[in-house]
Amino acid sequence: MALNATHLRFDLVLDFGEHIVRGWVEHELERAAKDDETFVVQTRGLDIEAIRSGHDSREFEMAEPNPIDGSDLRIRLRQGDRHIKIEYRSRPDAWGLQWLSPGQTAGGKQPFVYSQGETNHNRSWLPCQDDPAFRATFDATLRVPAGMRAVMAAEDRSSATEERVFRYHMPQPVPAYLIALAAGDLRFRPMSERTGVWAEPNVVDLAAWEFADTEAMMQATEELYGPYRWGRYDLLVLPPSFPLGGMENPRLTFATPTVLAGDRSLVSLVAHELAHSWSGNLVTNATWDDFWLNEGFTVYLERRVIEAIFGRERSEMEASIGRSRLQAELARLGEGSRDSWLKGKLAGRAPDDSFSEIPYEKGYLFLRHLEENFGRKRFDEFLRAYFDRHAFETMDTERFVVYLREELFSLDTGAAARIDPDAWIYAPDLPPEAPRAQSTAFASVEACIVRLREGADIASATNAWCSQEWVFFLRHLPRPLEASTLSALGETLGLDAKTNADIRCEWLRLCVESGRGGIEEPLRAYLGSVGRKRFLQPIYDAMWAREEFRFLAREIYAMARPMYHVFVRKILDEKLG
Ligand code: BES
Ligand code: ZN
Repeated sequence: MALNATHLRFDLVLDFGEHIVRGWVEHELERAAKDDETFVVQTRGLDIEAIRSGHDSREFEMAEPNPIDGSDLRIRLRQGDRHIKIEYRSRPDAWGLQWLSPGQTAGGKQPFVYSQGETNHNRSWLPCQDDPAFRATFDATLRVPAGMRAVMAAEDRSSATEERVFRYHMPQPVPAYLIALAAGDLRFRPMSERTGVWAEPNVVDLAAWEFADTEAMMQATEELYGPYRWGRYDLLVLPPSFPLGGMENPRLTFATPTVLAGDRSLVSLVAHELAHSWSGNLVTNATWDDFWLNEGFTVYLERRVIEAIFGRERSEMEASIGRSRLQAELARLGEGSRDSWLKGKLAGRAPDDSFSEIPYEKGYLFLRHLEENFGRKRFDEFLRAYFDRHAFETMDTERFVVYLREELFSLDTGAAARIDPDAWIYAPDLPPEAPRAQSTAFASVEACIVRLREGADIASATNAWCSQEWVFFLRHLPRPLEASTLSALGETLGLDAKTNADIRCEWLRLCVESGRGGIEEPLRAYLGSVGRKRFLQPIYDAMWAREEFRFLAREIYAMARPMYHVFVRKILDEKLG
């Protein structure tokens, strides 16, 4: 029987000079070891200094590293061992940490560091059982230079009298990918009794304004899916290089600053990361092949919460944009691709490769299909009970299907007969019965596109458009567009001046795909100030696909690369490095 850790204690110095963490982690095992038993943890590029149980050292062996998993650290235990302490240090290029110089932050005054654990990256700074199937509680101490604030996705147990030392406690067992830290010039603004936001001083007030609906979102999610079980829910706004939109670290969502649009239009990201407090953090995918159980469920919950707070029209707009992203992904993968099944098959690929629109948007459509066939009341009750029954457990696709048949299909055999889970989960592409979002707002945007092509002036119709309408508009314009049409859109519709990061991404991509001249500076400015993969990749791809932009793409990439996170570099280096 393999031996697992149920509690971690760690104490780390965040060394901003060396860009390493050094210290120790102690694993508390679920039971006393037998003589000669082995305890295995994952590592990547860690230097192990000593391993002990009490005062006695223990023998260990590092497996040959491989690029996907790093190396297993195998520790030889002795009879009765219960606590294993590993003294170690990380390396400056650890994938799970990004160290930023002051110039790479929003405020420019202090350096910054943050971790990104999902999927298997925490092993590069914390030797741990880095597999979503295992969970542990933890106590952590972080030591930082004077004047800096460290935060963790856990309960704050710091004492005001201890300078430069921050202590955290996580009472709920979590998988290792949800352990998260950050440190820098950080301030806090409360938003409600149990919600608040951390950010650099020059963005913290903007952030508190942007995220003002967070408490309402929590109440809406609790109303639908049961109590929030993690105590506080705070957000941390990261410097621009953060490679993701958001990351659902428990109690402390990490978020991109590009969500600060100034009009609260992009807060479905908050609904999404918050929803992970049920789907993903409470009930966790057992393997990364079951990733759709985390993300597809979360997109479904997100849209229900958006509907509850902003109305059906808004959630349908977002579902419709999701559908168009999914359609683009399916086209990229090609008909019949194994990678368009809901059940993933990583087989030898890095777990980060499970990331695509399939688990998100095909997963969403499957749940919506269930909802539409069984009715909201039943489906809501089903989901609520699912989160409750499996709280703090892992789930795989096969067990979910069993649960689905027992707890939902059995209630309505007529509806059950209309649904073929296998066609969704173990087959490529999209079943023809996939639900379709209905947005009246988007129907008028489509009408505008037609009128534009007939040469009409659509400026007045676009006056009151929200960011979702702009994104839909830009995604659905035919391309390439004439140079004159592009300048007209840029000037009369004000697209050249829009600062909303979502709109700007779609607009610049359209300009590149249409071969518009004179957009070097806007491209330089955007690609040089945004680190979010979802925005960078489509623009660089579009530039790469057109001969006349290739040189510029390389030049901008060389300039911006030091700011980008290693995940983004890994993707972009292939073509542009
Ligand atoms: N859990 C994901 C982020 C993630 C996925 C990290 C895979 C590492 C590997 C997070 O919840 C997410 O989905 N973020 C989205 C934004 C969201 C609003 C769809 C993103 O970052 O784009
Ligand atoms: Zn997610």
